[in-house]
Amino acid sequence: MRAVSAMVPVTLATLWLSGCSGGQRPSAPALRASAVSQPEGWDADVRMPLAEDLNPDPNVLEVNLEARVAERELVTGFKTPVWTYNGMMPGPMLKARVGDRVIVHFKNSLPEATTIHWHGLRIPNNMDGTPGITQDLIPPGGEFRYEFTLPDAGTFWYHPHNNSAEQVGRGLYGALIVEDPNDAAVFGDDLVLLLSDMSLDERGQPLPPDSGGGFGDLFGREGSVLLVNGKVRPTLKVRTGKQQRWRIINAARARYYDLRLRNHRFVRLGGDAGLAARSEDVYNLIVTPGERQDAVFTPANEPGSHNVLNWVPTERGYGTVFNRPSEPLLYIDTVADEPVTPEPIPSELRTIEPIDLSNAFQTTLELTIAIGPRTEMGINGMPYWKSTPLQGLVGQTQIWRLLNNTDFAHPFHLHGYFFQVLDDKRVPEWKDTVNVPAKSEVSIAVRFDERPGVWMLHCHILDHAEVGMMRTLIVRDPTQPGQLDTLLTKLAMATPDNPLWAGLKLCNSPTQAGATEPDTIGLRSGAP
Ligand code: C2O
Ligand code: CU
Repeated sequence: MRAVSAMVPVTLATLWLSGCSGGQRPSAPALRASAVSQPEGWDADVRMPLAEDLNPDPNVLEVNLEARVAERELVTGFKTPVWTYNGMMPGPMLKARVGDRVIVHFKNSLPEATTIHWHGLRIPNNMDGTPGITQDLIPPGGEFRYEFTLPDAGTFWYHPHNNSAEQVGRGLYGALIVEDPNDAAVFGDDLVLLLSDMSLDERGQPLPPDSGGGFGDLFGREGSVLLVNGKVRPTLKVRTGKQQRWRIINAARARYYDLRLRNHRFVRLGGDAGLAARSEDVYNLIVTPGERQDAVFTPANEPGSHNVLNWVPTERGYGTVFNRPSEPLLYIDTVADEPVTPEPIPSELRTIEPIDLSNAFQTTLELTIAIGPRTEMGINGMPYWKSTPLQGLVGQTQIWRLLNNTDFAHPFHLHGYFFQVLDDKRVPEWKDTVNVPAKSEVSIAVRFDERPGVWMLHCHILDHAEVGMMRTLIVRDPTQPGQLDTLLTKLAMATPDNPLWAGLKLCNSPTQAGATEPDTIGLRSGAP
């Protein structure tokens, strides 16, 4: 009996990992994964509550979100003040289907101004949540109505875009899941895992947001307490062979996650913007700040056993790995029920046409760090507040060579558009955030398909963005050249001394822009 039960998982694991049909193996369980449900209460300890939908229309998700301070016990015996949406950390999960309309009645009850950015959503510019650009800051006591249609299925998230290293670091984030009704049922039941961390002392009190000074800025502030859906080491219940679809979001201000589970591999389905072209069998899942991973997890441990999903240090530059132990994130308990045979996961998932590069404008964006009396980061040597906007036109394709000669990796994020990474070794997929490792480069292609406006690009180590690794991108519609004038004039008038806005003023007319901004791409030849 003992010998048999010990044999089962090994055989199963071999079966599943090799992907063979199992015809010649005698021990495949008779029950298939699709014939059983997840164990009772499988996700009770981790599940994030859904936002209450106030709208009876099945195609509209209408919710109230209020940012406010609350208390949570994250260090046993102590109360930590955390910043929340609706008193929850993470905020309530927004779940809808592709094509649905979302209406958010937002109220700011924090002690400071904020906005909400909908990370990864391709929505109109005026809903993007970048303060001073697409909207005014929402002061304490203020309100704002966000409303948009969800154009793409995938795993997205929302977070503030003002003083974001601190606000996100205090707990302001939530998941936004856009389901595709055509997704294969064999991927398994959805489990959203929003990963974050928090810098707390032994008494659960938050460290000052600028702790560590310039070194904190340089390294990025990783929190001491690791959270999965806002909890410290919660437990997930699984049944051997019964698949789950994990949608993983990295909402930490600086920490990278390399997720590994002993005796397991994962079938990666995609990430930022839904499914990739093909599924991939992988040993670990790396999620850099802002990024998402979408993967099938097939429990392969013996019934009744315990396992733990670990955070493993990832190489992201100087001092990020050496002498750092792994840390447990999530306990995984396998119930005693008999094993089931996992469903086969298709390898072809989606058609992803490569972006046509034939007329693409090319430029290099170098991610830079200047160490002086204070740490200052930038793009092409210019911190955000001294930078001029990049420029593009609706319908245009650009290739950005992201060059990183610094000692740290940077997860590069673009608002408003998906891009493709130009690397034949990667499975094709749409992304909005890509890691650029230290001393390396990554090239991406982006087509400004629609949605003219002023968009942000920045490093998603939020401490890096705050010290300047951020820039704006103006995308104009060539058929409506004056369309952004009101917005740009308003911006320029609001902060006349800021070179950023001086730059905006200069390029307010497309003809001037190409001539005055050496770094400008595309406009001269692309303008009508
Ligand atoms: Cu999630 Cu501008 O960022
Ligand atoms: Cu960075």
